[in-house]
Amino acid sequence: MIPMQKSENFVLPKRLQGLQPTLIRQFFERALPDSINFGLGEPDLPTPQFIREEAARVTLNEQNGYTSHPGIPALRQKIAEQYPHLGLTMNDVVVTVGSQEAMTAAFLSIVDDGDEVLLPNPGFPAYDACVKISGGTPVYYRLPAEKDFAFDIEEFKAAITPKTKMAVVISPSNPTGKIFTENDLRQIAEALKDTGIYLISDEIYSDLYFGEKPHSASEFYDKTVIVTGLSKSLSMTGWRIGWLASSQKEITQAVQILHGFLTVCTSAITQKASLLGWTEEAEAAKRHAREVYKQRGEYLVKLLKEELDLYATAPDGAFYTMLDVRKLGDDVEIAEKFLQNRVITVPGVAFGTEAKGFLRVSFCNTEEKMAEGVRRMKEVL
Ligand SMILES: Cc1ncc(COP(=O)(O)O)c(C=O)c1O
Repeated sequence: MIPMQKSENFVLPKRLQGLQPTLIRQFFERALPDSINFGLGEPDLPTPQFIREEAARVTLNEQNGYTSHPGIPALRQKIAEQYPHLGLTMNDVVVTVGSQEAMTAAFLSIVDDGDEVLLPNPGFPAYDACVKISGGTPVYYRLPAEKDFAFDIEEFKAAITPKTKMAVVISPSNPTGKIFTENDLRQIAEALKDTGIYLISDEIYSDLYFGEKPHSASEFYDKTVIVTGLSKSLSMTGWRIGWLASSQKEITQAVQILHGFLTVCTSAITQKASLLGWTEEAEAAKRHAREVYKQRGEYLVKLLKEELDLYATAPDGAFYTMLDVRKLGDDVEIAEKFLQNRVITVPGVAFGTEAKGFLRVSFCNTEEKMAEGVRRMKEVL
């Protein structure tokens, strides 16, 4: 990692002061060669061949200039139709450079200096950074470790103040792999009713579920802004395709303008190839991904119990489990020991205080590699 340059005359703007690369990255970048990677949240399944071929065809045969800033109309139309309960048109959708851009743009468009934003603890660390960049103050609601990180409405309600401008739900969750139930989302909608608080619903893992299809918070609460994309469901992380969708026109319009200045548009090639993300072939690829990750999750949780006598939470979706290492000691120290024995994990504290004493272990690996990873962990212990 390149250390932050210091200069006597240069003062970092307030909005960037204190921002650091996440612990996830810091661990990953110090990994030894031939490490087993339980660290990054990136699918190892290949991008489906029909999408690669379409991108190749579009590259060779078509001129790929700037597209309309919010995205090519045909793609926005498909995305709008994905949420029939909202009755969206393509004007309610902004196609972004991954859901990460959608998320950052949403914060910059909604949050003002001094506003408070409710974030899950534990949760994806980029949200803490987004709040700070936009001048807001993160306020955390616990997803209690003692309840296997399930949502607790009392924790959520206790965090709301007159300054709350926005709240975030991530379901299925990174880092816990847990899904907010229909009842959880209804309770959130009830708590937010008539407050004017916007709800960001991060649905990047919504196609990767192992039981019933998860609900979207937007089914229950009007002021919901969906951020999601194809990175995880179709193994397209490097293609940078995401979107923001909402019935709240003041937000989609603000984001559309900001997005034009941030990135102009997502790669035309990516957008055109992504049109195939709503076909029967794509559905089959998503189904396959669900089956693979479900099986791997079950395999890994069992293996961790049998080999290390450690409890790992049962994932409902995404590709993460939380491994309880509290009886062994500090999560950062244990993750460091594993790293030295060529196994990458992420200390729970990277995602918030509630996950202290846990490691996030992702199962974007073959069973063979996971078995080798657990063997190396056992060696350390
Ligand atoms: C919860 C969550 N949201 C958003 C993202 C960003 O994904 P992308 O920008 O590739 O769509 C990630 C990536 O790991 C994530 O875990």
